Amino acid sequence: MKINANIHKVKTSATLEINEKSKFLEKQGKQIYKFGLGQSPFPVPKNIVKELKKNSHQKDYLNVSGLEDLRIAVSKYHSKKNKYNYTDNNILIGPGSKELIFQTQLVLNCDLLLPSPSWVSYEPQAKILNKKTIWIKTYKKNKWHLTGNDLEKVCKKSKKSKLLILNSPNNPSGTSSEHLKQIAKMAKKHKVIIIADEIYAELDFSGSYKSIAHYYPEGTIISSGLSKWCGAGGWRIGTMIFPKKLSYIKDAIRNVASETFTSVSAPIQFAAIKAYSEDHQNFLDKSRKILKFISEYIYSEFTSKKIECVKPDGGFYMLCDFSKIKKIKTFKFKNSQEMCKKILSETGFAMLPGSDFGFKKNKLIARIAFVDFNGTKALKLFRLFNKSTSNKIMKKLFPNIFNGVKALLYWLDIKKNNE
Ligand SMILES: Cc1ncc(COP(=O)(O)O)c(C=O)c1O
Repeated sequence: MKINANIHKVKTSATLEINEKSKFLEKQGKQIYKFGLGQSPFPVPKNIVKELKKNSHQKDYLNVSGLEDLRIAVSKYHSKKNKYNYTDNNILIGPGSKELIFQTQLVLNCDLLLPSPSWVSYEPQAKILNKKTIWIKTYKKNKWHLTGNDLEKVCKKSKKSKLLILNSPNNPSGTSSEHLKQIAKMAKKHKVIIIADEIYAELDFSGSYKSIAHYYPEGTIISSGLSKWCGAGGWRIGTMIFPKKLSYIKDAIRNVASETFTSVSAPIQFAAIKAYSEDHQNFLDKSRKILKFISEYIYSEFTSKKIECVKPDGGFYMLCDFSKIKKIKTFKFKNSQEMCKKILSETGFAMLPGSDFGFKKNKLIARIAFVDFNGTKALKLFRLFNKSTSNKIMKKLFPNIFNGVKALLYWLDIKKNNE
């Protein structure tokens, strides 16, 4: 039997593949610095884990939209965060925001607009559904974010309905958008529906976050969940918030969900109530400070050696442009994938090629995720951040990152071995 033609266009998700490849090389005894997969290094807070244990007996199928008490907790949480009045009727709970984004793409008859670069999975999801993706080029001077003008130009080109996915703080760049108001204005004008992928919102280093839903509430679906700020990626729980005007989309997804995943695991949903109803400010403040500290260390090491980067504003990613590095030039790489493969095999430094995020293949840009450290230990020894020098902390708390950066810079001939 043949595989459906659309599916031939899809390979294993790049992030999951790099993780498996890194583990394979590690098993062969190679030292691998894992800057590939973007998984939270922090533990799920203890009170939430305790709640999961307490609810392990929960065994019933739950409401397709999600457990009512959880939806109430999510609506209260986001009403406060996003300064908007949501109720449980606005909320859908799904097995990860990735699945909810897929289902939204599935139920809408539209083209998909994606800023280039964008997260690895949006476009393959569109491919699975035979949906057209229109890439919109972004620029380093805009911190790799879309502007209102960029959006307007594309909207003028075709009349077809459009869904735009915006992600801020962003994967792969780590930067937050400064153009939300303008984008909202253009989206409203051209009736573009937006998925605001806010999965990293709680990890904005500033501790505050502006959602595009402030400016365009009626046309914005907010996508989020516990995977990043709460360290619960493997729990597979995500949330979507639909404004009243878009409840027809929510209802369509609910119908599809009822015939596919049914509902998210019951114990996980009961435990998630705790995540949304109790205060985790201290945990979040520390997590943000730790991530900011590491991002600044790598940024300063890389940019002082001519690897061009834009300073991250949140989350745990950074884009690095290697095109100005002498040694890289000597290899005459045809594409970023070739470059990343060579670097992985020769240094053990695993990162993802920019082409996976929609950059032109010949751009020698790669994404790093700075999460290869023990988050529990870093939280426990947080007091050291006020006492030690940056190098000392890096060596003690983030040795794989410290050594990985060193190994890469050494290989690139831009750092001496004993520096
Ligand atoms: C930008 C972005 N959106 C969505 C997701 C999916 O998260 P979830 O675990 O909720 O499916 C990820 C995960 O890496 C991501 O980076």
